[in-house]
Parts: sequence; C-alpha cells; structure tokens
Amino acid sequence: MTNYRTLNQQLNALLTGERDRITNCAQTCALLYHEITEVNWVGFYFPQGDELLLGPFQGKVACTRIAMGKGVCGTAAMTQKNLVVNDVRQFNGHIACDKASASEIVLPLMKNKKLLAVLDIDSPKKQRFANDDLLGLSTIVDTIISCTDFNQ
Ligand code: SME
Repeated sequence: MTNYRTLNQQLNALLTGERDRITNCAQTCALLYHEITEVNWVGFYFPQGDELLLGPFQGKVACTRIAMGKGVCGTAAMTQKNLVVNDVRQFNGHIACDKASASEIVLPLMKNKKLLAVLDIDSPKKQRFANDDLLGLSTIVDTIISCTDFNQ
C-alpha cells in the first residue's frame, strides 16, 4: 500500500518555491510514477476549449487530445468528478493508449469551480485503485493546486 502521507510530504517539499504549471506537473508525475506501485502511466491533461490537451507524463506515448466527455479522462473532466475504473475494458468509450492498462483513476483538479487539469493514472492490474488511493491522491491533488499557478 502506498504511504500517501509521506508521498504528500515529499511532493510538498518538491513543489514549494516553484509555481510553474509544466514544471510542477512534470515533477509530480515523476514522483508518483516511481513511488506508487503497479502503475504504467501517470500524467496530466489540461483543458483547452472543448478538448483536453496532453501535459507532462511518465509512461508510453499517449493520446494528444481528448474531446471533453470522451474516454475516462474526458468523462471525469466533464462531470468534474473523480473516476475509478476497475476494468477499463468494461468502460464504454475507454481510450486505450497503452494496451497493458487494465484499471485507471482520474482526478479533476478544480479551483473556484474551474477545471485546471486532470490527473490520470493507469495500472496494468485490474482493480488496482481502492479507496485509500482515492483519498491519498486527493491530498496529492490539493498540494499541486495550492503550489501551482494554472492560469497561464
Ligand atoms: N485511458 C484514457 C486516455 C489517456 S491514457 O490512459 C494515457 C481515457 O480513456 O481517457
């Protein structure tokens, strides 16, 4: 199980003093990719018009643009709700970037009801993401939001 308390402290230390969106999201991806077990992709998408545009990530090359409402990321962005998918093959409209991905978690980053980004994490294991991951990643997302200027 991931120690999200320690991870969040590490992230806080890593991001403090820098507010650039690309830099902070890139550092976050690297940290999460290497510290969370059984994940094959960690990355951010940024809203741009009615699409999501690929931001910093770790893992295999991914879909560059996702229409709002499409796939797991587009659904989470449109509904502005966290989304845990236990088996991506059962999710209607899932966009397969890496065929190894079996489960996925997406958290929208929101401030003043505005969508800033989505954080997407994939795992090659079905049902990888449980409630402790959702709670832990919510604290991670809070840290990124408070340490970063997204309106650029
Ligand atoms: N599976 C995602 C697309 C992004 S990749 O997983 C990196 C989706 O369905 O939105």
